[in-house]
Amino acid sequence: MKELVIKILKKALKEKDIKLRDKEIEKLIKIPPSFEMGDYAFPCFSFASQLKQDPVQIALEIREKIGNPPLDFDDIQTSGPYINFFVGKKELARKVIWESITYKNKFGRGKIGKKKKILVEFSSPNIAKPFGIGHLRSTIIGNSIANICEFQGFKVIRMNYFGDWGTQCGKLIFGFEKFGDEKKLHENPIKHLFDIYVKVSKNKKYDKEARKWFKKLEEKDMKAVMLWRAFTEFSLEDFKKRYKELGIKFDVYSGESEYNKKMKETIIELKEKKLLKKSKKALIVDLKESGLDVFLIQKSDGATLYSTRDLTSAIDRYKKYKFDRMIYEVGQEQKFYFKQLFKVLELMGYGWVKNCVHVDHGLYLDKDGKRFATRKGKTIFMKDIIEKTKSLAEKEIKKRLPRINKIELEKRAMKITIAAIFYGDLKNKRSNDMVFDLKRFVSFEGDTGPYIQYSYARATSILQKTKNKEKLEIPELEPKEIELVRKLSDFPKITLKAYESLNPSLIANYSYQLAQLFNEFYHLCPVIGSKHESFRLALIESFRQVIKNSLNLLGIDPLEEM
Ligand code: ARG
Repeated sequence: MKELVIKILKKALKEKDIKLRDKEIEKLIKIPPSFEMGDYAFPCFSFASQLKQDPVQIALEIREKIGNPPLDFDDIQTSGPYINFFVGKKELARKVIWESITYKNKFGRGKIGKKKKILVEFSSPNIAKPFGIGHLRSTIIGNSIANICEFQGFKVIRMNYFGDWGTQCGKLIFGFEKFGDEKKLHENPIKHLFDIYVKVSKNKKYDKEARKWFKKLEEKDMKAVMLWRAFTEFSLEDFKKRYKELGIKFDVYSGESEYNKKMKETIIELKEKKLLKKSKKALIVDLKESGLDVFLIQKSDGATLYSTRDLTSAIDRYKKYKFDRMIYEVGQEQKFYFKQLFKVLELMGYGWVKNCVHVDHGLYLDKDGKRFATRKGKTIFMKDIIEKTKSLAEKEIKKRLPRINKIELEKRAMKITIAAIFYGDLKNKRSNDMVFDLKRFVSFEGDTGPYIQYSYARATSILQKTKNKEKLEIPELEPKEIELVRKLSDFPKITLKAYESLNPSLIANYSYQLAQLFNEFYHLCPVIGSKHESFRLALIESFRQVIKNSLNLLGIDPLEEM
């Protein structure tokens, strides 16, 4: 619709000798604060000095040049220095219903990513620790961002850059040598490895030994390599199980260890580009001039670092994928670190670094507002989170359907679990800290994932009761219907904004508002047997499609029945 408004204005403005490009007109167009003032408003102040005329007069003259409003508009009026456009409600309804029902899961897609490639790195847990709550935010947000990019037409590469190298590996190897138990390792590898990790981490006096073992690992000591390989395999297997449960897929698993060999080249390159400095016995890149302190490249004992691997992997990824954009979904604690990383890449002369972004997020807090601890054995395992949520979901389902069979119960409970956890996170602006409260997340009422799934299931059940075959006639619309139509037509705008700000909460909040409007509409407007049955059914079908598309972007499956 906006395009049409621009077109109409461009023509009228030209007749008044004001030549503006589409983009310039677009910038001037405002969305009025209330619908009584129209759907779009065009202010005429900015031409006053050029035309030496009162803006109110200018508005009147431009309005005159427009002539009769085209079919798609109910009216075009002036109000002081503004020209207000009133989009035809029936037209709007026809358009959104037709488009959503025709394009289905493609409705709302954008084109800005066409023929472009984007690499989204997210989740990236560490092998020394089980996949726990610490990496859940990155997993949920990164997954949704990847979906949002895909919806704009990008080819998306989903990458898991898991941490399988570094002193933490030394801790595990040393710990296993000291406290390990072959039998326990095979029975419950994740738990056993975690117990060892906690034992070693608790005691500072083991740090030196752990570093020594990591050094050995870097030097390819047979024993160290063998144990490391086994630990990595056990951990990866566990990660993959969790991703499968959550319905999350990766195109590439790329561990930090992949860059062992290539790291030397990076160090040489830094030296050749005269960026490397010695500081005591360590190697650094000095970023003080840019206010970014120093970036450590090699420790004094010669061991390499997280930072060196990141540099190497970024360069390698660009060579391999030639991405147009790269996103790192990693917690806020690493904000400064990523600034340093990008600065070093810039100094190395890699122009593509301007297309790299660190997309950060805040912390999960417990109900007392404290952060969830992950050290000292207090981490919360993903497996337990899922099980706990699932049992809460089962309780909710059984309240409504006491006799549901076990298989169906299991299936629904899992989908509700994902909706609860994902939505509970995504409804918050990602940079904010948020309270992780499963009980609240799982509720079927209020601003929750299950509530939105429930609204979808409700729409499905209404549609199943009838067959809507009549030709679409649009009647005079009730106020609630207009609101719902407007909200539905907002969807493409919202998906674009979510991409531009890399912020899935826009979609989450939108889907809640949409579900609420739908429920209000259904409460106020009788559907089956009413005079407007066929239109209202079409509206419900449109709602059902749009809410489904929104949920998909959040990584949540809708449920046909609840
Ligand atoms: N494994 C890291 C951690 O747990 C996150 C990796 C983030 N990605 C990166 N390219 N540095 O903290």
